[in-house]
Amino acid sequence: MKYSKMLNTLLRKFKKATKHMLGYPISLKFNYSDCSPFLNCHLNNLGDPFGDIWHYQLNTLKIEKMVIDHVAKLFHAPKDDYWGYVTGGGTEGNLYGLYLARELHPNGIVYYSDQTHYSVPKNLRLLQMKQVKLPSLNQGEIDYDALRQELAHRKEVPIIFANIGTTMKGAVDSIPRINQILTDLNIRDFYIHCDAAFFGMILPFLPQKPSQAFDFQEGIDSIVISGHKMIGSPVPCGVMVTKKSHVKAIGQHIEYVGTKDNTITGSRSGLSPLFLWQALKSEKKLNFRLLVSESIEKADYAIKQFTRYGIKSWRNDNSIIVVFPKPSMKLVKKWQLAVQKEIAHIIPLPHVTKKAIDAFIQDVRAEMGLK
Ligand SMILES: Cc1ncc(COP(=O)(O)O)c(C=O)c1O
Repeated sequence: MKYSKMLNTLLRKFKKATKHMLGYPISLKFNYSDCSPFLNCHLNNLGDPFGDIWHYQLNTLKIEKMVIDHVAKLFHAPKDDYWGYVTGGGTEGNLYGLYLARELHPNGIVYYSDQTHYSVPKNLRLLQMKQVKLPSLNQGEIDYDALRQELAHRKEVPIIFANIGTTMKGAVDSIPRINQILTDLNIRDFYIHCDAAFFGMILPFLPQKPSQAFDFQEGIDSIVISGHKMIGSPVPCGVMVTKKSHVKAIGQHIEYVGTKDNTITGSRSGLSPLFLWQALKSEKKLNFRLLVSESIEKADYAIKQFTRYGIKSWRNDNSIIVVFPKPSMKLVKKWQLAVQKEIAHIIPLPHVTKKAIDAFIQDVRAEMGLK
């Protein structure tokens, strides 16, 4: 098959699949055509975006730094003590947070809930870190009593891996409650990493201030958001922000590129900072307040429709993830649903229309024989 024909076939397939993408936290509504000339450039953000001498010039490191400045401000990172970089996604940002925690606390123990993203236990194995997996509450938050009990009888520095929006149920581990436990147990030395892959770009844009405070003002040490989730991007990417003083422990100057090697990978995408900058800060920036309120409205609409037909569904406070009983594999495939044991979810992101929600619920009703 000719290459142009192959591309056209692929494009048609993607357009069709987009209409049926209900289950994954990936916003598909974006237009980055202004960046298209850069598809014919090699852009490689090798090195430290906070450096100032780069032998290698084919990069967008300055724009990457501007993206980090913006995200650091959003999460109230200390003005004179932050650092970060644009990662290949949430997974790499979480790996970085854990790596940093291990370098700072080599004998630390990582505590995380059983609702944590599947990549985290793998990363802990890679890093060979000691770990305690804790149960979760019904709605998906970490079991705070279990955390308290575990922390009470261990001497090692705790490294808390907190979920700011779990993958399946959209639950937020409460940083204030975790801090209270650390204070009660008189634990002064600790590290908190927040996995805000999806909800990091939702919670700050709610109409009312959420009760789930989770940023640097709450004493966290590092945080990651995904660029291709709530923001939307043609390629996977993420943003990791931590404290500059933490990173000092790990960077090494590399003479041959004239920069510090303090990122996980060497060569990194120079294209993704352009997408992030457009979406976050340019005159074409997205209106996240509007996108978030529309998504919540559509999530409530879906719940109302499910309820109308006697199908149980729910969402956590401030979450746009609607959880309901797992349907047949035929529907899971058709609507690209994420499933776990007996539950499934849909996520009405900006590209998901009410018409698509109606069509999906109609399919579920037909399958269940509901009128
Ligand atoms: C809570 C959470 N953390 C981390 C990840 C992994 O992020 P990425 O796919 O950007 O690597 C996901 C992906 O869905 C997620 O939901």
